[in-house]
Amino acid sequence: MNAPEDQMWTIGGPVDAVAMRHTMAAFPSGVTILTTRLGERSVGMTISSFASVSICPPLLLQCVARGAGSLPAFRIGGSVAVNILARDQAHLAHRFASKVENRFEGVEFDTDDNGCPVLAGAAASVSGFIDRIYDAGDHVILLIRACVVRRDETLPLLYYAGRMHDWMDTVGSMVAS
Ligand SMILES: Cc1cc2nc3c(=O)[nH]c(=O)nc-3n(C[C@H](O)[C@H](O)[C@H](O)COP(=O)(O)O)c2cc1C
Repeated sequence: MNAPEDQMWTIGGPVDAVAMRHTMAAFPSGVTILTTRLGERSVGMTISSFASVSICPPLLLQCVARGAGSLPAFRIGGSVAVNILARDQAHLAHRFASKVENRFEGVEFDTDDNGCPVLAGAAASVSGFIDRIYDAGDHVILLIRACVVRRDETLPLLYYAGRMHDWMDTVGSMVAS
């Protein structure tokens, strides 16, 4: 995807939101669904700003928008599960970013020892707790300590340039170009 000339660079001035979004879209990632339990209610939201931070101790991070309705459910010490979506789970990424009333309705999942939803068919999942929360502009960074990890051999879903991709599309278009 090529940007129009005038969106290519911002030199010597504040980086505006369009330039920032466009530039960050150059970085491919996977897609996760972060889940937790709030009283009797399961909470989950789609997050692509996810990274492994430390192996020993095992730490990872998730960035949550300050405006996210789910944010109050994520507290220091609270249990969470990070579900790394498989290549055929783009529909879940959309569902957990939508305004549907109960995002878990019709979705197959187990619960981990702390009651957090672990989605069936995910490429991998991590159960743990929130170790720290850092302020980060219009987002907060949740630093999560991993306690239990699970890995399936399924390929993960890919997210690039604001769209989800299957591996065959990506490999196909790379080969074609
Ligand atoms: C592929 C994809 C990736 C997303 N990544 C993030 C993210 O990293 N952080 C974030 O706060 N929201 C992200 N979102 C948006 C949230 O999932 C969306 O705003 C959701 O409605 C938030 O739910 P809530 O308001 O119920 O908490 C992403 C959405 C999609 C579809």
